[in-house]
Amino acid sequence: AALKTYQFNIEVKNVSRLCHAKPIVTVNGMFPGPTIYIREGDRVRINVTNNAQYNISIHWHGLKQFRNGWADGPAYITQCPVQPGNRYTYDFNVTGQRGTLWWHAHILWLRATVYGAIVIMPKQGTPFPFPQPDGETNLILGEWWNNDVEQAVKQADKLGLPPPMSDAHTINGKPGPLFPCSEKHTFVMEVKSGKTYLLRIINAALNDELFFAIAGHNMTVVEIDAVYTKPFTTQAILIAPGQTTNVLVKADKAANRYFMAARPFMDAPVPVDNRTATAILQYEGIPNTVLPLLPQLPAPNDTEFAMAYNEKLRSLNTPQFPANVPLTVDRHLFYTIGLGRNQCPTCLNDTRFTASLNNITFVMPKTALLQAHYFNVKGVFRADFPDQPPTPFNYTGAPLTANLGTSLGTRLSKISFNSTVELVLQDTNLLTVESHPFHLHGYNFFVVGTGVGNFDPKKDPAKYNLVDPPERNTVGVPTGGWTAIRFRADNPGVWFMHCHLELHTSWGLKMAFVVEDGKGPQQSVLPPPKDLPPC
Ligand code: C2O
Repeated sequence: AALKTYQFNIEVKNVSRLCHAKPIVTVNGMFPGPTIYIREGDRVRINVTNNAQYNISIHWHGLKQFRNGWADGPAYITQCPVQPGNRYTYDFNVTGQRGTLWWHAHILWLRATVYGAIVIMPKQGTPFPFPQPDGETNLILGEWWNNDVEQAVKQADKLGLPPPMSDAHTINGKPGPLFPCSEKHTFVMEVKSGKTYLLRIINAALNDELFFAIAGHNMTVVEIDAVYTKPFTTQAILIAPGQTTNVLVKADKAANRYFMAARPFMDAPVPVDNRTATAILQYEGIPNTVLPLLPQLPAPNDTEFAMAYNEKLRSLNTPQFPANVPLTVDRHLFYTIGLGRNQCPTCLNDTRFTASLNNITFVMPKTALLQAHYFNVKGVFRADFPDQPPTPFNYTGAPLTANLGTSLGTRLSKISFNSTVELVLQDTNLLTVESHPFHLHGYNFFVVGTGVGNFDPKKDPAKYNLVDPPERNTVGVPTGGWTAIRFRADNPGVWFMHCHLELHTSWGLKMAFVVEDGKGPQQSVLPPPKDLPPC
C-alpha cells in the first residue's frame, strides 16, 4: 500500500463549447477534472484549495469511507463546505474496492463542471477476472449548459420552475460533431486492429439516464459501480447518473472510424430528447477525413431494452469475489417517491414543486449532520424518519392528490450497527418523466428485486435473487415501479441517500441514515480531522 497525494485547486476557467464561451468552476483548470489513479489498499490524501467564489465540497462517489464519513463530502451532511480562500484535505483508505468510480462536487449544481474519474487498480499481482486488456480509456458522459448553471437554477427557483435543460450531452467534456461548433470538441480514441480495450464509462450527467453504443462493435460488460459482474455481450448499455460501467471492446472490425454515441433514455411520452453526444473510435492509420459510421441506439422510450439489460446484470459471485447478500432482514423499510407543492410567495401560482420520500421533503441543515451526530448536538435533526409511508394507497394508480401533502423536515432514520436492512423504493407515478437513480453513500447494496406497479410484500420477495444480484451504489427505480435493495449496516456514521437526478435532489428527494456505532473495537466513527471546515 502506498500514500497517494493529489492537489485539487478549485478555480474558474473560461471554456468554450457550442460557440459559447463562459467561465466555469474546475479542478486545476481542467474539464473534466483530473483522474485519480490509485491501487486497492492505498491511502489517499487530496488537498482541496478553494480559489473560486463558491463554497465547495467534493464527494468520492462509491468509495465506502469506512468509519470515515469526514472524507465523504456531501455538503451539510458529512461536512460544512470549504469556503472561498480555505482548504481541506480529504484523507482516506481504499480497502476492499477496485474498479471505476468517480468524484464530483457535492453542493449546489456545481457538479455540472466539477467531476472526474477514479480508477482503482486491483492489488499488485491480482489480475482482473477477465482477459487482460491491451489498453484502456475513460469515457465520462456529461451535460453542458451555454449559460451559467448556478444563475439559471437560482432564477428558476425564485419562480418555482425547473431550470432549463442542458444544451448538449458530452463525452469527456466534448459534445462531438453533431452539435454546432463542436467539430474540434470531439473526443477521439485511437485503437489498433486486433487489440482489446477496457472502457471505463461514467455517467456524470446531471439529469439524464443514457444509452451508450459503439457503431459496429459489441461490448462485454465486466463491472458495474466497481464490482465485477458475470460478463455478457450487448450492443448498447444503459447507465444512470452516478453509475459506472466497465466494458471490453475488441477492435476486430474493418479498420475505419466509428462513432461512439450517448443519448437519453426517457420512459415517458414527454419531450423526446434526441440530442446525441458522440466521440470517435478510430483505427490506427485511418485519416481523420473519413466520415464515421453511427451506431444504432435503443429508441429513447425503449423500456423493454432497459428492463432486459438490467436483468442481465449479475454479480460475478466467485469464491474470490463472493456476493455476500444478507439472507435475513432485521429492518424492513418501504419508501414512496412522491411529489408535492409547497408555498412560495415569489413563485408563479405561489407554490413550488417539492419531491419527497414517505411524504417528507428533506430540508438541508445549517450544520453538518455527521458533526451533530458525533458531538451530540441537539436540534439539528430528528431521528424519526418513518419506516413506512403515512397511509398506504394505490401507489402507481392513485389520483394525483394521494401524496401531494408533503411535510418539510430534516429527518433521519436510525439504524443499529451491523443490522441487515431491506429497503423497497416505490415510485408513485407522480414524477413520471424518468426512473429515479437512487444513490446510497457509505455502502454498496444488493439489488435483490425490481418490478412494475405496486410492490406486493406477500408475493414479490419470493422472486428475489439472493444468489448473484448486482451489487452497486446507485440503482434506477423504474417509472411506475419499485426496486428492493439489501445491505448490512456495518459502516457507522451519517450517510446520505438521494435521487442522483440533480433536479429531483434539489426538490428534496433525499434523506440520510444514522448508522449507530457498534460496541466492539473498530466499530465506531473515527474522530474528525483537525482541518474539518467550520460551519
Ligand atoms: Cu454522486 Cu450524493 O452523490
